[in-house]
Amino acid sequence: MIESKPGVQDIVRLVRPEVRASHEYIVGSFPDIQVKLNQNESPLNLPEPLRSELVEAVAQAQFNRYPAEFPHALRAALAAQNGVPEESIIVGNGSNELTYTLGMCFVAPGTPVVVPRPMFSLYEAMIRLHGGAVVPVAPRDDLSFDVDGLLAAMARTGAPLTIVTTPNNPTGLTVSRSDLERLIEAAPGVIVVDEAYVEFNPEGSVVDQLREWPNLLILRTLSKAFGLAGLRVGYLMGNPEIIHEMMKSRLPFMVDRIAEAAALSVLRNEGVVAERVAHMKTWTADLAQSLSGIQGVTVLTGNTNFLLFQTPLTPTLVMERLAEDGILIRNMGGYPELKGYLRVSTGTPQENRLFLDALERALTAPSEG
Ligand SMILES: Cc1ncc(COP(=O)(O)O)c(C=O)c1O
Repeated sequence: MIESKPGVQDIVRLVRPEVRASHEYIVGSFPDIQVKLNQNESPLNLPEPLRSELVEAVAQAQFNRYPAEFPHALRAALAAQNGVPEESIIVGNGSNELTYTLGMCFVAPGTPVVVPRPMFSLYEAMIRLHGGAVVPVAPRDDLSFDVDGLLAAMARTGAPLTIVTTPNNPTGLTVSRSDLERLIEAAPGVIVVDEAYVEFNPEGSVVDQLREWPNLLILRTLSKAFGLAGLRVGYLMGNPEIIHEMMKSRLPFMVDRIAEAAALSVLRNEGVVAERVAHMKTWTADLAQSLSGIQGVTVLTGNTNFLLFQTPLTPTLVMERLAEDGILIRNMGGYPELKGYLRVSTGTPQENRLFLDALERALTAPSEG
């Protein structure tokens, strides 16, 4: 309790220690960026007919009214697309929001949560915010997940929650179907499979396992292959009884009317998405080939719309030099296993060319001083 008029620091001390010890999620940028290849987004905006459809929907929207408690039409469309009942789905404001919902449901102070490394940083941040105990499992030498290590960590801790991303961000590497099945079968609690990049994965989804395994939850997003990062739509699939429980901790009204309309229009146009995914796969493969051809550059080939790579220069210097040419990629050095690594998302072929030319210039520029 504070007795006299509190100072700011007195109030700061009232913030939960787990929050104070955390960091804001800030991606970071430079001024004057024209080629943005740092967040694994689709380089293609919604095609014109879909944008016009959306403008029409916006013109008709009832801005003064809350959206429906459950976005029925969207849930139904996602259920149909995935061959699961509507009750198996929670839709959220991006899959990021549903990651926090997972924390609300399954992570209490001290709860062990098994996470392979290196994996999308939001998971460990979410576990720490809830006071959970991160049980990290180091990767194999090739940066792939150590599946036997994960099985051992699950058995050792009896973890109520294990999280695996495939294809993984930031490595782009996949977990094989048979290894995923081993993990699902052995999990002592819930196992979340984040399939944010599933459209790029030749091994496909484990959605068919949902009927058999009530401990399996699958996270998806419309931010990547579907090109809707700007609107924030993600969803979680699981056994209807588990989803029913999770609904109790979800924030109300997380999908607004406009996001729902846009998501529905993209889902109605499956052909457009498939065509764009095919383009992005080709562009990523071409980018990998050109990048590996640059002297001193090594590339990790995965199954996503981005690439992890190393150059002889420090990531900070490369980022600075690219930014001078208006190009933004990502320094992955914040992950302890990825010191020295950079990540680039595929752009259009023109954007990739600009990036490759700028990178060659950056790597051959004379060093200062
Ligand atoms: C593995 C993974 N999961 C989830 C997300 C976030 O998705 P959303 O935009 O739906 O919050 C990302 C975004 O980079 C990601 O890489």
